Amino acid sequence: MVTYSPSEERYTRMDYRYCGRSGLALPRISLGLWHNFGSVDDFGVATDMVKYAFDHGVTHFDLANNYGPLPGSAESNFGRILKENFRSYRDEMIISSKAGHEMWPGPYGGNSSRKNLMASIDQSLRRTGLDYFDIFYSHRYDGVTPVEETMQALSDIVRQGKALYVGISKYPPHLARKAYELLAEAGTPCLISQYRYSMFDRAVEAETLPLAASVGSGFIAFSPLAQGLLTDRYLHGIPEGSRASRTTGFLKADQVTADKVERAIRLNELAQRRGQSLAQMALAWVLKDERVTSVIVGASSVSQLGNNLQALQNQDFSAEELALVNAILDA
Ligand SMILES: NC(=O)c1ccc[n+]([C@@H]2O[C@H](COP(=O)([O-])OP(=O)(O)OC[C@H]3O[C@@H](n4cnc5c(N)ncnc54)[C@H](OP(=O)(O)O)[C@@H]3O)[C@@H](O)[C@H]2O)c1
Repeated sequence: MVTYSPSEERYTRMDYRYCGRSGLALPRISLGLWHNFGSVDDFGVATDMVKYAFDHGVTHFDLANNYGPLPGSAESNFGRILKENFRSYRDEMIISSKAGHEMWPGPYGGNSSRKNLMASIDQSLRRTGLDYFDIFYSHRYDGVTPVEETMQALSDIVRQGKALYVGISKYPPHLARKAYELLAEAGTPCLISQYRYSMFDRAVEAETLPLAASVGSGFIAFSPLAQGLLTDRYLHGIPEGSRASRTTGFLKADQVTADKVERAIRLNELAQRRGQSLAQMALAWVLKDERVTSVIVGASSVSQLGNNLQALQNQDFSAEELALVNAILDA
């Protein structure tokens, strides 16, 4: 049996940033396991991507109870990858999971109740084979459960030793504010806020991002490549095997609109002038904001991941370039 041993160079290949007002540094680029790590995917490719990531200083891996498909299988697969390759490296890794979206049948399987969070973290620990998560999130506000109940559950999860830190995801700003206050009062401050943020979705810029920064919460951007729309993937149609072509993908073919593709083509021209791929420029653009701790990228191959990690080589934008990006996005 070949035993994996990571590159000695790994920590020189990545930049790290402290997560809000905390002592926890995260890599500027984290790896997300929403797609491409499930039971429908190639386990060999999934393993190679985790190894490649770790070899390049990606210490943070982002999961949720429902990632797959089948739901739960990304956690099981990641657990197997850890067991087979990373036994001695647990203390070099930041592993997160979440609960709150539909996961099991009945009234307790998919909301933000204490019942759901407590049951879900136990299931996630079992699937991954971990003793604890580094970060555990409330995946969403469910529209019903009082924020007090959800935050108390998160705080108790830390007290029980099942997670080291907690975070929130996708909470509307007025409820995020409340969540930050409650968590701070409970002595388990909100380490991190996870929201969609990309050139194609800038909604967080108005309130969410400044709010997180003002209370000392880190901010991590998901879908920074707009699920692939901000890459060269769809510049010439929808290729076979792409997320938009797969029945299991969350990006639907009708979301690959002529308008999005036209903007991506123009952004791609700018990226080429900067000596970058469109994916690299899209990541650098999100990372240019000092308040953004990290971006969580997805990838379906080692070469995509490798391409993305090189975004760190050119993170500077001139005023003219930023104006051109805005002109393309606002047109
Ligand atoms: N909190 C939440 O509610 C929430 C929601 C969504 C996501 N997330 C987190 O964020 C992570 C990332 O989300 P995401 O997968 O949507 O991120 P993304 O980085 O916006 O999109 C990833 C997809 O883009 C394509 N891609 C990536 N790099 C490429 C490259 N260099 N060249 C060409 N195509 C490239 C691949 O698509 P193909 O498969 O077509 O190759 C890949 O699967 C998730 O895994 C999850 O951890 C959290």
